[in-house]
Amino acid sequence: MAALLTAGGWDMGEWLDAFRAARPTCPIHQHGADAYDPASIRYALAWKPPHGVLASLPNLEVIFSLGAGVDGILGDPELPDLPIVRLIDDDLTYRMGEWVTLQVLTHFRKALAYQEHQRAHRWVEERQPAAGAVRVGLLGYGVLAQHSADILVKLGFEVCAWSRTEKDTDVTLHVGEEGLEHFLAVTDILVVLLPLTDATRHIVNADLIAKLPQDGAVGPFLINAGRGALQNEADVLAALQSGTLKGASLDVFETEPLPEDSPMWDAPNLIITPHVAAVSDPVAVTRYVAKQMEAYESGAPLTNLVQRGRGY
Ligand code: NDP
Ligand code: OXD
Repeated sequence: MAALLTAGGWDMGEWLDAFRAARPTCPIHQHGADAYDPASIRYALAWKPPHGVLASLPNLEVIFSLGAGVDGILGDPELPDLPIVRLIDDDLTYRMGEWVTLQVLTHFRKALAYQEHQRAHRWVEERQPAAGAVRVGLLGYGVLAQHSADILVKLGFEVCAWSRTEKDTDVTLHVGEEGLEHFLAVTDILVVLLPLTDATRHIVNADLIAKLPQDGAVGPFLINAGRGALQNEADVLAALQSGTLKGASLDVFETEPLPEDSPMWDAPNLIITPHVAAVSDPVAVTRYVAKQMEAYESGAPLTNLVQRGRGY
């Protein structure tokens, strides 16, 4: 029995090599490039698989997501009813922690203003509050957000978070729809690390942005590394242009790559990165997948399973 790799838009060579090194006993084929017998496929390694590919594999047992977000898999209307293992790995988690910290510090320490001053040959000091006077709010408090929160707490920020369910944590946690309003009222820098689901689509819109305080020590700023469709792009653009948002960092967009003629490129005080906040590393991810396969084959239960009912 073999594995099938289906990951549109990625360099497949690296992934095939990495998987073969991690699991030499399991043959792997690349969808769209190799001839393979669909009946021979037991495992799929998938990132945005073309619709219907997974359904065409009669003996498929497990789907391994090559990313932390599974919206690209759950969006397949012909998705078979099989376990989906999501990606939880330190390599990815640490990468996201770096990106979030970089963006928080960039806005907090006014890096964009200093860049402007430098271009104009101006020696100007910007007023700078203490980190402890700044409230960072994490919209979504899962694996990635919790690690980012740990770093931000160590840097001295006042950190709070919003999640769907209660959990034990040292940061102030606001829960569910009823907790959202208060969370927003105490957030100067909003970091979005939600999955894209029916409940979260376009959650970052004009209404939400209007609820962020205008009288905080800094901001409000928006930082989104979750998914592009979590934000209403026109509302974010309008908020940046009006100054309702003092700045933003967006790694994700509803249409990727961001079209060349998108007005977002020229939005004031916006930092754009091309969906690279936490890139899946082939070696780290295939090592994780191989470990899960070995455990599964020895009779242990799969871990980190997607719960389809909740959409993540
Ligand atoms: P997790 O599943 O661990 O965490 C998701 C968090 O969102 C949880 O705290 C969950 O609440 C919360 N949540 C989900 N739905 C709701 C809702 N309706 N209301 C309130 N809270 C909600 O995900 P990860 O931390 O691993 O990843 C988050 C997202 O980051 C991924 O889904 C992906 O889209 C994105 N990502 C982006 C990358 C990039 O490079 N830009 C790289 C990797 C991931 P609860 O804790 O109660 O379940
Ligand atoms: C992911 C991503 O979900 O890279 O892992 O977006």
